[in-house]
Amino acid sequence: KNRTVLLATEKAFAAGAVAKIETVVKEAKYTLKKLENYKSKDDLLAAVEGVDAMIIRSDIVDAAVLEKAAQLKIVVRAGAGYDNIDLKACEAKSVVAMNTPGQNANAVAELVFGMMIVSARNNFDGTSGFELVNREIAFYGFGAVARAVHKLAVGFGMKSFAYDPYIPAEKIKEMGAEPVTSVAGLFEHQYVSLHVPLTEETKASINKDLLSKMPKGGTLINTARVEVVHEADMLEILKVRPDFCYLCDVAPKDIEPFKAAVGDKFGKRLIFTKKKMGAQTAEANDNAGVAAANQIVGFFEKGETAAWRVVLEVLQPADE
Ligand code: 3PG
Repeated sequence: KNRTVLLATEKAFAAGAVAKIETVVKEAKYTLKKLENYKSKDDLLAAVEGVDAMIIRSDIVDAAVLEKAAQLKIVVRAGAGYDNIDLKACEAKSVVAMNTPGQNANAVAELVFGMMIVSARNNFDGTSGFELVNREIAFYGFGAVARAVHKLAVGFGMKSFAYDPYIPAEKIKEMGAEPVTSVAGLFEHQYVSLHVPLTEETKASINKDLLSKMPKGGTLINTARVEVVHEADMLEILKVRPDFCYLCDVAPKDIEPFKAAVGDKFGKRLIFTKKKMGAQTAEANDNAGVAAANQIVGFFEKGETAAWRVVLEVLQPADE
């Protein structure tokens, strides 16, 4: 059966990845329809009509999109976080939703270290910075991305700590990090790196109570979702603590007061990206894009829903 797969990416993949996605889709004798760098929701609503499958990134798939996509059977988020998909609305329409866990992990991990080095070396302003060796990094969430960061941290001679409500302490230990028993416990370490999904529970959960526990030179690294951090509290901490740093992949929603608060001419205390850059590498685009295309073909041709079960699993606590 000739199926149509829509590649809908407001932030486009590298051209090489798109070509690879196209190859997978064509080999299955499906048609690839592309909507890249689109500017409005209306463009997306028009494009989804008549498509059988969708590959998306952070693109919003809500009830309105699903309503227009009457023929849609499967949507694959090429990436890890699926907070942009209305899973309930998918279920109501019997649309299968999948992600591609792990495919962006190394790209994000390298960005974490890129930002840490820029910050530790005072954004190369000529003054003495410090080294990462022997310093402590604590992970909130210990999934694929955190583990990739941990691997690099070991190479840098850092000490790793981790807390993940869905992973037992023994498993964290087996993976080479020191288990921490609570979220608050993470904030005793100089670096805290966030690797939790955006959920009702995690939204704005990184607040003043937690941030103010951080030791001198405390640095929060956020390559998860900007909404996980309580923005007003973070701004307050940056104002009162000249030692504190915030390194984030995407800027806080209201960036101007942040810039004013840190007066950070050299960009060492406040590092942010204009658009989410963690997954913006040729390799991650290839990995996530091709995985998404293969999952769609596997679903239609063999009824495979393995990756979908991964989505369900991460919603279930490990001890249940
Ligand atoms: C992810 O969840 O995999 C990352 O945040 C990547 O998001 P992006 O595809 O919008 O870059």
